[in-house]
Amino acid sequence: MTTEKVAFTGVRQTLLATLYGRALDSRADRPVLGDRMAEDAVRRIAFDFTRFRLTPGEAAVVAMRGRQLDEWTRAFLSDHPDAVVAHLGCGLDCRVFRVAPPAGVQWFDVDYPEVVELRRRLYPGRQGYRLIGCSVTDPAWLPDIPRDRPALVVAEGLTMYLSGPAMETLVHRVANHFDAGGEAAFDAVSPLAVRLQRLNRILRTSGATLTWGLGDPRRLEGWDPRLRLVAEVAAVELPWIDRLPFPYRLACRVMRLVPPLRRLGVLVRYRFSD
Ligand SMILES: C[S@@+](CC[C@H](N)C(=O)[O-])C[C@H]1O[C@@H](n2cnc3c(N)ncnc32)[C@H](O)[C@@H]1O
Repeated sequence: MTTEKVAFTGVRQTLLATLYGRALDSRADRPVLGDRMAEDAVRRIAFDFTRFRLTPGEAAVVAMRGRQLDEWTRAFLSDHPDAVVAHLGCGLDCRVFRVAPPAGVQWFDVDYPEVVELRRRLYPGRQGYRLIGCSVTDPAWLPDIPRDRPALVVAEGLTMYLSGPAMETLVHRVANHFDAGGEAAFDAVSPLAVRLQRLNRILRTSGATLTWGLGDPRRLEGWDPRLRLVAEVAAVELPWIDRLPFPYRLACRVMRLVPPLRRLGVLVRYRFSD
């Protein structure tokens, strides 16, 4: 087994924390996601993952977010077996392997070039699957992606690291590119979570900075008239909360009762029309 040395800092290092969260979840008695490929990848990367000091509860929270986005992805692909998927800020996430899309789907994983290079060394290829090494703020990631099929743009743990103007530009580019329309599904944090970021251990450890918070998800409809919000779920209301250790379940219950805390983390799904 070859070991990969990784010297990522800042936002690129956060992908190691979320990978480790999924690996820890896969070791649990009742995993939320059960992603064994994450565990295998962690074993192959020469990096001290314990520095993130992730608790089993934090690992389960990462896994719950991933599971919800997996389920939205599966739902879209079951309605559109000829779709294209653009998975932005993929990091080392194994969504394409967990979802195992039907043969008619073309799936593109997009992240910075050095992240994509590491992915190539760690994971196998698949039919209909391609990697694009490019910043999502650079329009160069789009032209290679077919525009004439229903599209799902999915992003996990990405939007909070983009600026507001970069998010708005991204929304327009996506809506302009995909002529057949489609959906966008992603998680976001609230402006309060951005203000409270010093409390976030993963950010302190990696040196990454949160830059964008989503207030009212309907505001994005004002950015582009082709966008419609179709689903919104607070992270503390995800269906797998019962798998969290008791203190986390209790914290979720309390947070649900306090609107600004309930909205610290949300998952949203938009439809964009042709
Ligand atoms: C918290 S990690 C999440 C990674 C993966 N989605 C997961 O859930 O494990 C944030 C990811 O966003 C990527 N990222 C941040 N800004 C980016 C940008 N402008 N272009 C492409 N990727 C970006 C980072 O490289 C990293 O892989």
